[in-house]
Amino acid sequence: MSIISIASASEGQAPAPQHDIQHYLRPGSLQLSALPPLSLYIHLPWCLKKCPYCDFNSHAQGAGPLPEQQYLDALVADLDAALPLIWGRTVHSIFIGGGTPSLFAPASIDRLLGDVRARLRLEPDCEITLEANPGTFEKDRFRAFRQTGVTRLSIGVQSFNDDHLRALGRAHDSAQAMAAVEEAASAFDTFNLDIMYALPGQTLEQVGQDIDTALSFKPPHISIYHLTIEPNTVFAKYPPVVPEEDTAYAMLDLITERTQAAGLGRYEVSAYARDGHRCWHNLNYWQFGDYLGLGAGAHGKLSFAHRVMRQVRFRDPARYMQEALRGNAVASEDEVPRGDLAFEYMLGALRLRHGFGLRDFGERTGLPITAIQAALQQAEQKGLIERDFARVRPTERGFDFLSDLQTLFLSNAP
Ligand SMILES: C[S@@+](CC[C@H](N)C(=O)[O-])C[C@H]1O[C@@H](n2cnc3c(N)ncnc32)[C@H](O)[C@@H]1O
Ligand code: SF4
Repeated sequence: MSIISIASASEGQAPAPQHDIQHYLRPGSLQLSALPPLSLYIHLPWCLKKCPYCDFNSHAQGAGPLPEQQYLDALVADLDAALPLIWGRTVHSIFIGGGTPSLFAPASIDRLLGDVRARLRLEPDCEITLEANPGTFEKDRFRAFRQTGVTRLSIGVQSFNDDHLRALGRAHDSAQAMAAVEEAASAFDTFNLDIMYALPGQTLEQVGQDIDTALSFKPPHISIYHLTIEPNTVFAKYPPVVPEEDTAYAMLDLITERTQAAGLGRYEVSAYARDGHRCWHNLNYWQFGDYLGLGAGAHGKLSFAHRVMRQVRFRDPARYMQEALRGNAVASEDEVPRGDLAFEYMLGALRLRHGFGLRDFGERTGLPITAIQAALQQAEQKGLIERDFARVRPTERGFDFLSDLQTLFLSNAP
């Protein structure tokens, strides 16, 4: 998944005031020595149906066809309005997420990428990921996505067990999941499988079976998420019976052991990859890189010499299209307060097995290392990190107690 959550911006609100570029470049409390790499996130918000556990900005498709061309027009208008904020910068990765982007026709994805290439300079080896769901007519379609320039497919498998797929309210069954993975493996050099564990009624043995089935396709990358019961979902209202916490820990240990044995290293809390197949786009998020977020409800983070800004687009697809076509897609925009930068940096960086470089911390946040010295000392005393003169890494214990570790970096932390 794209790791950036799609939060809600109030739909009643007026668009964020539009500023010219001088507004973002004016003096401020920060002095960044360089701008971080830039990624592009594009949100396509429709699915065949809404899953009962999902709190992403995704909407059941309804009876008629998707308004693909109108939505693409809105995305392009959104990009055109945002161009001055990223003028002259090169894009290192693109992630087309959802929702279920594979519901869009390959010709639409081709048009979208063509429109992006016409406006932005892409790195020659720019990673372009598209999220795809099994059961969305993948025969021949995945290969057609590859031909549009998509380099990486991320498939929302979740489980290969029919009972669990039913319990999750998924639109596909295990035969469709396997067919989709085979199709992806034949069309793409690199692809990801999204798997969830700690599912309603799931046993440790069944987790082992799911992982073994996933590994039998030799995936270069797997993302594994503990099912969380999110507020305002059907599962929050009618909670299913899920495995106890101890069982869930044992499941994660089993997953880590089997993926490791198959040559996939755990490089981030939820991500496992073979060498050379780490997700560049998500690494950029975790390393406090920049990303322009286009599409309904999309989040963005952009750095300027003296400030770091966050933006959220209108969440409702119809409102988003209406506003974006007028050049007003941004529902809210805020400068990250200086006091929040260290914590925001740590939210991503401490998810990584290799942690972060002290120099990178300074470059991305504009803060001196003394700003986090006390928190680093506390984390070290608690056995949550290890460090040398150049790098800080979470320990195994730090991974197990990640939110405790991250909280130490809150500006008002004890
Ligand atoms: C934004 S979703 C989109 C992918 C695709 N639409 C799908 O569901 O197959 C990305 C991934 O987030 C994970 N996910 C979504 N809701 C979750 C939840 N409540 N708990 C844990 N993981 C979740 C799923 O593994 C999903 O594949
Ligand atoms: S298919 Fe994916 S994005 Fe759509 S509702 Fe289900 S989990 Fe959410």
